[in-house]
Amino acid sequence: MVIIATDGRKRANLHSRSIRHELCSTTRTKYYWICARFRKTIRNKVFVGALSLGTAALHFGLILLGVQAGDKVICQSMTFSASANPIVYQGATAVFVDSELDTWNMCPNAFDTAIKDRISKGKKPKATIAVNLYRMPFNVDQIRAIANEYEILILDDSAESLGSTYRGAHCGTFGDISVLSFNGNKIITTSGDGANVIKNIDLKNKAIFLATQARDNAQHYQHSAIGYNYRMSNICDGIGRGLMEVLDKHSQKRHEMHAF
Ligand SMILES: Cc1ncc(COP(=O)(O)O)c(C=O)c1O
Repeated sequence: MVIIATDGRKRANLHSRSIRHELCSTTRTKYYWICARFRKTIRNKVFVGALSLGTAALHFGLILLGVQAGDKVICQSMTFSASANPIVYQGATAVFVDSELDTWNMCPNAFDTAIKDRISKGKKPKATIAVNLYRMPFNVDQIRAIANEYEILILDDSAESLGSTYRGAHCGTFGDISVLSFNGNKIITTSGDGANVIKNIDLKNKAIFLATQARDNAQHYQHSAIGYNYRMSNICDGIGRGLMEVLDKHSQKRHEMHAF
């Protein structure tokens, strides 16, 4: 059995040994929420929450960062629409900023100007969505410095850039929360799905609570908050864990194709 991408190309072979092994062990795994393989790849102490879509991971990321109706969120203008749509899901307003020539990603000067403009109009933006488009990291040092100066949270959209690095650090680790996608057109695919990369233990606990329908610790079904069912299925998790084994090979191939 193979997974076919939306463009009709074959993206994963479910007979491959690593995937078969992971699928078998997955059914015995009680908690597939933690994507241990990604943590191993980036050699970083982060929590990775496996979710049903990259778009869900963006929406969930905004929720976890506390973005609410009426907030302003700065978003890179040149990106896929899924980067921006979740801002509207939250009832917040997107403030689009232009890209820079070097990376084609968010221009630090335009970012700074947009923040100042919003502050002069009475409301500081709550967060920014910076995108590593086409596997090219955004200008992390400068965007991070500006965000820190104004205490603005970064949601790092690394949907397209699993396997890329910036000064030795892996894409998917630059934000207060980062987003990965395993959609059919990405470097590895589980047939859909996505993930949040979270660095803070409180946010991790909040993520587990909200992603499991916000079910309270009670004997019966009790919910004191609005929850979500955004979790990746355990079968897809098994495919993803198996495919993490070939991520380096796929990344290498991409570099070779780019160098051609
Ligand atoms: C930059 C970017 N952000 C977000 C997404 C959304 O990811 P998904 O398709 O997994 O919902 C994609 C890809 O599809 C993307 O390219």
